[in-house]
Amino acid sequence: MTTLPADKAPSVLSARAKYEDALQRMREASRAYYGDGDSPLDDATYDRLRLAVLAWEAEHPDDVAEDSPTGQVGDGAAPIGDVAHTTRLLSLDNVFNADELVTWGASLQRRLGHAPVGGFTVEPKMDGAAIAARYRAGRLVQIITRGDGSHGEDVSHVIGQIDGLPSQLPVSATVEVRGEVLFTQEQFEAANEIRTNHGAQVFANPRNGVAGTLRAKDRRPYQLRMTFWAYGAVDLDAEPFLPAGATHADVLAAVAVAGVQTTADTPAGLDVVSGLAEAQQKVDEIATLRASLPFGIDGVVIKANDAAEQALAGFGSRFPHWAIAFKLPAVERQTVLEDVVWDVGRTGVLAPTAVLAPVEIDGSTVTRATLHNPADIRRRDLHLLDTVTVYKAGDIIPRVQAPIVQLRPDGAREVPLPEACPNCGGEIDKRQERWRCAKGTACALPALIEYAAGREMLDIDGLGKTYVKALVESGDVADVADLFTLSPDQLTSASGSAKRAAKLAEQIEAAKSRPLNRIFCALGVLGTGRSMSRRIARHFGSMEAIRQADAAAMQAVEGIGAEKAPIIAEQVATLAPVIDKLIAAGVNMTEPQEEPEADGQGPLSGKTVVVTGKMTGPLDGRGRAEMNALIEKAGGRSGGSVSAKTSILVAVPSASGKPSSKAVKAQELGVEVLSPEAFAELVADYLA
Ligand code: IVH
Repeated sequence: MTTLPADKAPSVLSARAKYEDALQRMREASRAYYGDGDSPLDDATYDRLRLAVLAWEAEHPDDVAEDSPTGQVGDGAAPIGDVAHTTRLLSLDNVFNADELVTWGASLQRRLGHAPVGGFTVEPKMDGAAIAARYRAGRLVQIITRGDGSHGEDVSHVIGQIDGLPSQLPVSATVEVRGEVLFTQEQFEAANEIRTNHGAQVFANPRNGVAGTLRAKDRRPYQLRMTFWAYGAVDLDAEPFLPAGATHADVLAAVAVAGVQTTADTPAGLDVVSGLAEAQQKVDEIATLRASLPFGIDGVVIKANDAAEQALAGFGSRFPHWAIAFKLPAVERQTVLEDVVWDVGRTGVLAPTAVLAPVEIDGSTVTRATLHNPADIRRRDLHLLDTVTVYKAGDIIPRVQAPIVQLRPDGAREVPLPEACPNCGGEIDKRQERWRCAKGTACALPALIEYAAGREMLDIDGLGKTYVKALVESGDVADVADLFTLSPDQLTSASGSAKRAAKLAEQIEAAKSRPLNRIFCALGVLGTGRSMSRRIARHFGSMEAIRQADAAAMQAVEGIGAEKAPIIAEQVATLAPVIDKLIAAGVNMTEPQEEPEADGQGPLSGKTVVVTGKMTGPLDGRGRAEMNALIEKAGGRSGGSVSAKTSILVAVPSASGKPSSKAVKAQELGVEVLSPEAFAELVADYLA
């Protein structure tokens, strides 16, 4: 169960010395992982190293180091502690793709002597720390970490700090529940705020934070809230809690009835399915949900549901044979913070962006990530050249989490903060945490107006850089809506001729009837480019409906997750005066339903299409935005990277014979690859 896709294959360890070096790196990383510190390797890099070690060990069975971490629970690095576990607390073996899941299914079937008849459960794999929580007569008396699986540390000092793990149950149950404790995203942010207020470092990520919090006995003057979800339970003190022969789903239901939160209570839930094909579908569903979950998951766990079949399949030294973790791509990696650049947003706010050494996260190469504001940069103690943790999932804009202070090189220096507005060179208003150009909206306005007037938006031919600058400088245009109420005199003085002014006036008049998606896009709402604006306009149909949408309603739009939704809703509300002015000027506020194919129609209906490279043949010269528009017009959805959900990859066959990385991935996943010519034929009706 340990093969990775070709591009992720482990590096080969050629010599014994390299093997030992790899063992040492594994030990250091997992010691830090389970300890209070930050791991010098991110999960994806650690997994690769581990697979390389396993491969070497498989080839050199007689030379395997006796104390190799690969043979021990928690890779032998978890602090062990002295509390004996009721029964061993095991880890899970991993698979990384659908084929490996099928292979695992076959090995389970071999062990059982028949296909499992009790079905499988599918539940999220929470990315936290495993604990065993002992309840006696309904009272939570002890919490123990996993340790080496047979002994763990007593961390009962966190009793009362964990949501979902009540100190007192409503029933007098005696039972040991097992599950994962973690920081939800909200708790993680609260914890970091509390820590920085106490002069402590921010946690590099929620999992490190939990490990540190569990271990920090009596050392901290504050309490951090965490959350627990049970994924199992065992009888304690020989007092029967679980009904004999209970399935895994029954066990979790009994735990829930007793008042403890379980994986079934997460938004991803627990599903019982009859076979692995269905399990794979659930895995894909949970993977899609991942970005919108309020906590981190690093995979999906599939378990044989039936107790008798679990018993028959049995256990290996580290893993049960009846359960498997389907690992999802890492959403957090480490990379180097090379620079921080500053932009001035629509409202004059100075927005810092981290420039990163390229790193592959969740299927795309990340080179930039958001930072919040100067105060936050200082709170996080970020230095240029720091190795930092970067988080990205699904549509979420990548963000820099924290520096790994232990890896700070000599030449690192605090991130410099701007002394003058990076856009106009003027003064900065530093009264609030979010710095603004003292000129406010006027500073970035020319860029926004030019963007709004562009060909793909309001398409006001002739309204170029020079006229926009003149209109903004004269004060005639203070927002997009002002474009629609310009008088002939104002246009004449900006363009320098009555003739040009008349032409511009005509263009502006025509722009009033552009479809809502273009008008909405012209507002410049953060995170809503052409494709997203089209989806929003198509979903809501009218500006009125968009304005009434709260964050929850926004999330119903394809591609808007929990993170983006409130930001978009808030920005739309802030733009109320501009929208009102547009309405008053007679600008169209509805989306024509016939422009793109209605749902369920068109040759690309229900399909996600990814485009890569330059287009040729009938599509020659079409840029990415035009291709995306074409895809959506033909009823499909455009995607940025190739995944199991991609239906078609449009790519020019490589002349050199070396296919692009997207084409390789498409081939691996069995995604249909079409040349631009073949794709043009498919969407011929929409090419006009
Ligand atoms: S089942 C004998 N279910 O993942 C069964 N584990 O990488 C053992 N984990 O040690 C575990 N979510 O700490 C199980 N729904 C889930 C889980 C889960 C997270 C953790 C657990 C385990 C680790 C293995």
